[in-house]
Amino acid sequence: MTQPALDFVIATLEKIRETRDRSPRASRTTLARLQSGFPVAVSLPATPKSHEGARETSASPTERWLQPASNKAALLEPIRERVRVCTKCAHLASSRTQTVFGVGNPDADLMFVGEAPGVDEDQQGEPFVGRAGQLLTKILRAMGFAREDVYIANILKCRPDTPPGSFGNRAPTPIEMQTCRPYLVEQIEIIQPKVLVALGAVAVEGLLGMRGTMRELRGRWHSCNGIPLMITYHPAYLLRNQAPSEKRKVWEDMLQVLERLERPITDRQRNYFL
Ligand code: URA
Repeated sequence: MTQPALDFVIATLEKIRETRDRSPRASRTTLARLQSGFPVAVSLPATPKSHEGARETSASPTERWLQPASNKAALLEPIRERVRVCTKCAHLASSRTQTVFGVGNPDADLMFVGEAPGVDEDQQGEPFVGRAGQLLTKILRAMGFAREDVYIANILKCRPDTPPGSFGNRAPTPIEMQTCRPYLVEQIEIIQPKVLVALGAVAVEGLLGMRGTMRELRGRWHSCNGIPLMITYHPAYLLRNQAPSEKRKVWEDMLQVLERLERPITDRQRNYFL
């Protein structure tokens, strides 16, 4: 943020503090942005005066963006650090190898949200690197993306613990999801993807707070805080159900995503799994 713009923000906040009953409020993300010198959304009084250095935009009168180029990667770092040392779920903090924050391009138009790290992700510190992750990577390639082009994160940043000696993963509990969700919300607020994809019912529950069957939820557009959200099956489901009809369902959901992103789609792509 330029110095005149910053001066303007501070002067405006002081004015609000002096003239209103309640102090101005700012989210953690906004405060991090102010501290790091990156753009913030600022609520202005209803009849703003023009100030030198403030950018006039066509945004709503109370909401203006003061914006030099952003650095979303830098904005994500303090959150990554808070996640790294998080002990809100003591049982998960003590059982995890490490937290699994997210991976990919912070400037991505497309963001995938899964459930929680599994054993491979817990070992490697990266989401979707196990068998389900390899299938997700293949789906991305079929869409014309590399993993580095999109952003991938989970509802939970820790692997759900399992009894010693047991195999497999367990689903996150509602309390674990509620506890961890704010981190994901902050990630989404910073990345601001054009499209979100929820992989499986647990991701849907974590993002939208609602339960439903995938049959009724998938394949159509939902909204997550104003961001278009496509719901599709988790890749682990496709590993269990190898029928071409199920692959086609996921693929049709991804075709809708590509259309929404206005990406070119070849005839070959349209016909996958038919
Ligand atoms: N399944 C998920 O939902 N997330 C991962 O990171 C890996 C598997």
